Amino acid sequence: MKEITTIKEAKLWLRTYQKKNLKIGFVPTMGALHDGHLRLIAQSRAENDITVCSVFVNPIQFNNPEDLAKYPRNLSLDARLLKSHGCNMMFCPSVEEMYPNGKQDPVDLEYGMLDKVMEGKFRPGHFKGVVTVVKKLFDIIGPSNAYFGKKDYQQLMIIKHMQASLGLPVNIIGCETVREDDGLAMSSRNLRLTIGERQVARRIFEVLCKVREKGTKTPVWELKEWAIKKIQEDSMFRVEYFEIADRETLMPVEAWGHKNQLVALTAVFLGDVRLIDNVELFS
Ligand code: PAJ
Repeated sequence: MKEITTIKEAKLWLRTYQKKNLKIGFVPTMGALHDGHLRLIAQSRAENDITVCSVFVNPIQFNNPEDLAKYPRNLSLDARLLKSHGCNMMFCPSVEEMYPNGKQDPVDLEYGMLDKVMEGKFRPGHFKGVVTVVKKLFDIIGPSNAYFGKKDYQQLMIIKHMQASLGLPVNIIGCETVREDDGLAMSSRNLRLTIGERQVARRIFEVLCKVREKGTKTPVWELKEWAIKKIQEDSMFRVEYFEIADRETLMPVEAWGHKNQLVALTAVFLGDVRLIDNVELFS
């Protein structure tokens, strides 16, 4: 596997493959890789001629400086994992390489409500930072297919929206959430949970599954209230939001109506670690 840190070298290295019209699959990440990331690599390998993974902790998408400082980093372990999973190139630029002299060239798009609800509401500026870096990475890598996890459902929808509104020649592919044996969605943040917190963390997915089970039998508002109460029954948890929303627009719905393409999404603090998760409803 080739490890590359500069934009120029990445473009040069990729040129050979682009000239041969080979399909490039791309998996953008912030490192601290786990099986969730590696599943995206596997899917990319299955569907493309070569697979590129970027490892870049993007400072401009962190609205909380402490979160950025605490973000786990282990580039040599990430490189080993990528290599053993058949990734062809790891792109791991410095912050200066991506934002020379602090120049961000932010990508400003109109998303309607998509970037204003849930994560958009509680993490101001987050999605602008994500879109800016992903667009920049797309420009460097020139992928045919790019892989994103449904774990970050709103992020996936925002990236799809960006692709469509800019008419980028890349397919955005959403992949199922990979979970630990007890159901907790894999996340680099799980490493920050204490042993006690880790033991109870399964509650988030358990409640999401119960919500899926209960479905339309209960009014939306009552179901949301029930879910929040159920999660917070254990005082280690604090729910930031729990919504039932349209899968495409992510507009929270107030009643079941005739819509059947819905998703339940939540952000929960467990101690001081913020975890997000979701399940699609009625699939
Ligand atoms: P990161 O959190 O490292 O995630 C990289 C990709 O892995 C994202 O598409 C994310 O949804 C996916 N992923 C994470 N955990 C997963 C899981 N348990 N199952 C399936 N997929 C999972 O998301 C980011 O980085 C950044 O915002 C990024 C897109 C790289 C831009 O900086």
